[in-house]
Amino acid sequence: MKMRRILEKAYHTLLACTGISSNQLKTDRDRQTDILCGVVGCDASVLIASKPGNTSGLAEKDAHDNKNLPVEAFDSIKKAKALVENKCPGVVSCADILAIAARDFVHLAGGPYYQVGKGRWDGRISMASRVSFNLPRANSSVDELLKLFGSKGLNLEDLVALSGAHTIGFAHCEHFVSRLYDYRGTKKPDPYIEPRFLKALQMSCPPFGGNVDVVAPFDVTTPFSFDHAYYGNLQAKMGLLATDQALFLDPRTRPIVVELGKDKQRFFQAFSAAMEKMGSIGVKRGRKHGEIRKDCSVHS
Ligand code: HEM
Repeated sequence: MKMRRILEKAYHTLLACTGISSNQLKTDRDRQTDILCGVVGCDASVLIASKPGNTSGLAEKDAHDNKNLPVEAFDSIKKAKALVENKCPGVVSCADILAIAARDFVHLAGGPYYQVGKGRWDGRISMASRVSFNLPRANSSVDELLKLFGSKGLNLEDLVALSGAHTIGFAHCEHFVSRLYDYRGTKKPDPYIEPRFLKALQMSCPPFGGNVDVVAPFDVTTPFSFDHAYYGNLQAKMGLLATDQALFLDPRTRPIVVELGKDKQRFFQAFSAAMEKMGSIGVKRGRKHGEIRKDCSVHS
C-alpha cells in the first residue's frame, strides 16, 4: 500500500510538476502511439536494444516487426524517464511510463482520458524472436485475431474497440499492397475497396519497385484526430488493412463496428475499457520477474 502511494506521488510529480504529458511528449504525438499498442506485454521489453556483438539473439526493439517504430518515440520515453528519475530515482518503471504516455498521446489527439493502473515492473527478458508470435499481421483473418486476442484475455468487443486506434497513424505500403493488385492470388484488387480510395492508394503504392518509406493514413477522412470515423470508413469500404476491413465483413464483428461508428462516446468508453485490460497483459510485479530500469533501453 505504501509503495502504491509512493507511485501515485511519483506520477503526480511526473504529470503535474514536470508537465510531461502536455509539453515534453506532445511532439510528433500521433506517430508515437504505435510503440504503445504493439508491445508484447506491458513490461517495456520493447524498449530494450540489443547489445553490440550479442550472440544470444536480438532484443525486441530490433525485431523485424518493430523496425518502423519511430526513433522519436523512444526519445520521448527516455526524456520522460530522465525527468522522473531526477525527482524520484528507482521508483517509476519504464513500463508505467509507456502506459501513461500511450494514454496521453491518445488524449492529445482528441481521444478519451482513461485511468492507467500503475505499479508495473519492467521485464527482465527481451527477445526479438518472441515478437512475431505475439503481433497480429495485416492480413490475419478475424479467426486468427480472435485467437491471438483471446490468448491475452481480450474478447470480440476489445478487438473491435482497440482496432479503433487505427483512427490515427499511418501504414507502409508493404502491409496492404497485395490488396491493391493481387487479392488472394486473383490478380485483381480486393473487391471490398471503394474504387476512388483504391485509385488513390494505387497511386501511392505501385505493385513493384515503389519507395519503401511511403505511408498511407489509416483514417483517410480525419487522419490526425482520435475519433470514431474509422468505423464509418469500414462501412464505406475504406479500411486500409485487410484486418481493418475484415471487421466489417465478418458477421461476428460487424454489429460492433456499426454500433461504435454511430456514437463517439460509446467508442471512447469501449476503447478505454479495452486499453485498461490490455494494460494489464504480461504485467510483472516484484523483483523475482521484474526490475525498475534506470535507462529504459538496458536491463539494470
Ligand atoms: C487488430 C490487429 C492489428 C493489426 C493487424 C495491426 C497492424 C498494424 C500495421 C501493419 C501498422 C502499420 C505499421 C507500419 O507500416 O509502420 C499499424 C500501425 C498502427 N497501429 Fe496497429 N494493428 C492492430 C491493432 C492495433 C492496436 C490494438 C493498436 C492500439 C491500441 C494499434 C495502433 C496502431 C497505431 C497508432 C498505428 C500507427 C503507427 C504510426 O503511424 O506510425 N494497432 N498497425
